[in-house]
Amino acid sequence: MQISVIGTGYVGLVSGACFAEFGVNVLCMDTDAKRIARLEKGDVPFYEPGITELVAKGISQSRLSFTTDLTRAVDHGQVIFIAVGTPPKKDGSADLSYVEEVGRGIARTMTSYKVIVTKSTVPVGTGELLKKVISANQPKKVLFDVASNPEFLREGSAIEDFMRPNRVVIGSESEQAASIMKDLYRPLYLLETPFVVTDVPTAEMIKYASNAFLATKISFINEIATLCERVGADVQMVSKGMGLDHRIGSKFLHAGPGFGGSCFPKDLAALVQMGDRAGYPMQIAQAAATVNSQQRDRMIDKISAVLGTIKGSTIAMLGLSFKPNTNDLREAPALAIAQALMQSGAGLRGYDPAALEEAAQILPGMIACKDPYDAATGADALVLMTEWNEFRNLDFAKLKTIMRKPVLVDLRNVYESSRVTSLGFHHVSVGRAPQDPVVRAKNG
Ligand code: UDX
Repeated sequence: MQISVIGTGYVGLVSGACFAEFGVNVLCMDTDAKRIARLEKGDVPFYEPGITELVAKGISQSRLSFTTDLTRAVDHGQVIFIAVGTPPKKDGSADLSYVEEVGRGIARTMTSYKVIVTKSTVPVGTGELLKKVISANQPKKVLFDVASNPEFLREGSAIEDFMRPNRVVIGSESEQAASIMKDLYRPLYLLETPFVVTDVPTAEMIKYASNAFLATKISFINEIATLCERVGADVQMVSKGMGLDHRIGSKFLHAGPGFGGSCFPKDLAALVQMGDRAGYPMQIAQAAATVNSQQRDRMIDKISAVLGTIKGSTIAMLGLSFKPNTNDLREAPALAIAQALMQSGAGLRGYDPAALEEAAQILPGMIACKDPYDAATGADALVLMTEWNEFRNLDFAKLKTIMRKPVLVDLRNVYESSRVTSLGFHHVSVGRAPQDPVVRAKNG
């Protein structure tokens, strides 16, 4: 089978490279000529474990190629995936102008039956809109179907998520399109991957509902964490005790500084917008977003409480990306927290294994450090912001000799308090009351 993928961003390129690995002949198209020139040489413009190898393999085996020519892409693929950006507008709703532009381009150049699939996260109703845009712009009528095949990739484990998904969701307006789409995913039959085949609006909604639900789970446990601090409970054990109930599940119950990334914040905002437009406010999604932004303020309060005063202190921040194994800084809690701390007069020394250079541009006041120990030198507190593996076994004896004060603010609950305190450190974490200074201050 031959397919085309329009848009070589994160979702587009990962999907294209993975379909090529499935044995499909994939042509990826992007209007950004520089990006395409880099990709043709196997140079991937973002960090994701395994993607460079997969792109190189696809190119060398002639199953993956690149172009800036939309006509060529439309001609090449029986299935055309649209994976262009849908950035948030000021009101939180998704900007569909790129999707519409691609729709018009496809309409003008299509000469045979195509299945046109949205892979980017798009509001419910986009499939219908695309159908209208394409129909209205065809110079002469050529049959086509629209479909929705939302992507559930997580950054940092995108290839594994694509190759071994929990499910494949296909929203389609015809039997023919559904069967072509199922064919494309045939390699997953061996893994007995469940397929959810439904209509287009339902598939579009599955994506939003899934992301909003996961985000809500995180905000829920973060609220419970704050309550734990106030009433003397341990959120880690609460999560464990809850998660063992199969109806709840243990994933996405890890308390921390709140969620970031390119999906959860944007998708929650878009769902809230969708509800408002439909005359039905999405109260739970709104609450999940509100709790998330308050969580950042709580983290700043925590740091401030342990330092006594922020002004004049030096803070070392380990991990700046929104989660480990990515250099993505979009909506990263680290950025908002670092900015607030610097505005309050703290000196900031930051380190991240992948996102340091970019972070230094966004946070010009930050001193970019070469490793965790460089960052910790002279610091009054070490803030563990993102749980990269290389921060899981820090040398506390060494840290104690180089820091001004032995304080660890562990915002991902990576360390056991007993261990860290036995090494002479003051340990502050999230939702574990006894060692929390905010609570101690409150309780006198
Ligand atoms: C998410 C969805 O998981 C994925 O299905 C969708 O396609 C895109 O959005 P991603 O944004 O890559 O993927 O990251 P994810 O691993 O889901 O984490 C999102 C955020 O939640 C991160 O900031 C992470 O630190 C935070 N998180 C996650 C928690 O704070 N606690 C948890 O228990 C889990």
